[in-house]
Amino acid sequence: MIILFANQKGGVGKSTLAVLFSNFAVQKRKRKVKVFDMDFQQSLYNKHLNSDQLENEKLYEVELSSIPGFKSIHKRAAQEPKTLTVIDLAGKMDDDNLVQVFKGSELIICPFFYDEYSVTSTFEFCYVVKKLNPSSRIILVPNRVKSSVKYETLESVNQALSQFGELTTPISDRIDFQRLTTSYTPESLTPILDPIFNKLFDDHIDQDLEWQTETT
Ligand SMILES: Nc1ncnc2c1ncn2[C@@H]1O[C@H](COP(=O)(O)OP(=O)(O)OP(=O)(O)O)[C@@H](O)[C@H]1O
Ligand SMILES: [Mg+2]
Repeated sequence: MIILFANQKGGVGKSTLAVLFSNFAVQKRKRKVKVFDMDFQQSLYNKHLNSDQLENEKLYEVELSSIPGFKSIHKRAAQEPKTLTVIDLAGKMDDDNLVQVFKGSELIICPFFYDEYSVTSTFEFCYVVKKLNPSSRIILVPNRVKSSVKYETLESVNQALSQFGELTTPISDRIDFQRLTTSYTPESLTPILDPIFNKLFDDHIDQDLEWQTETT
């Protein structure tokens, strides 16, 4: 199964959520994970190299890839149906090969912020993805939500975005995200993240696995 972390908006938490999700899948759900970093900034890949040096137990492999490289990733994913293939995508949307990426990913996780620019960008992104593949499953994750800020447009934003896919409960803005590595998730984050990821597995990921084992 291919799970894509994407949004054309930069800095909304794509790489962070890709790492959190991958750690969770291995540690809490005992799944095999393979991560592909498609961002030319290689932030996830470098994070992985650093945590290698810390000699923590490796939870999964991280490979550098590119958008045209999706074809071979897709092929490999089909050969290993039980492995969760996680892709961290760059913010840029200017590559024609992206069509294949959106069409070939079973689940698209799209973090966003509740501010005007982020919401507009996220709306456009979801619109394009759905145009390219009307059956794509998009999961929208409100990220870095500040408890002290009153978001007056929250309800209308949620309503507008929910036409594209399901919204998760929000993730708050917390300093402990800085301590995240590809082999360690700070304990303090589990009360926020576990319910979101458990629901994702129960509603979208485990069903696919059952279906795959029945038909293979
Ligand atoms: N909920 C959060 N609370 C605090 N900091 C966060 C949270 N989510 C992400 N961050 C921080 O925000 C920064 C940007 O996150 P990240 O790199 O994951 O975004 P991105 O969407 O992958 O960015 P890019 O578009 O550049 O690839 C990082 O420093 C990360 O630690
Ligand atoms: Mg990133």
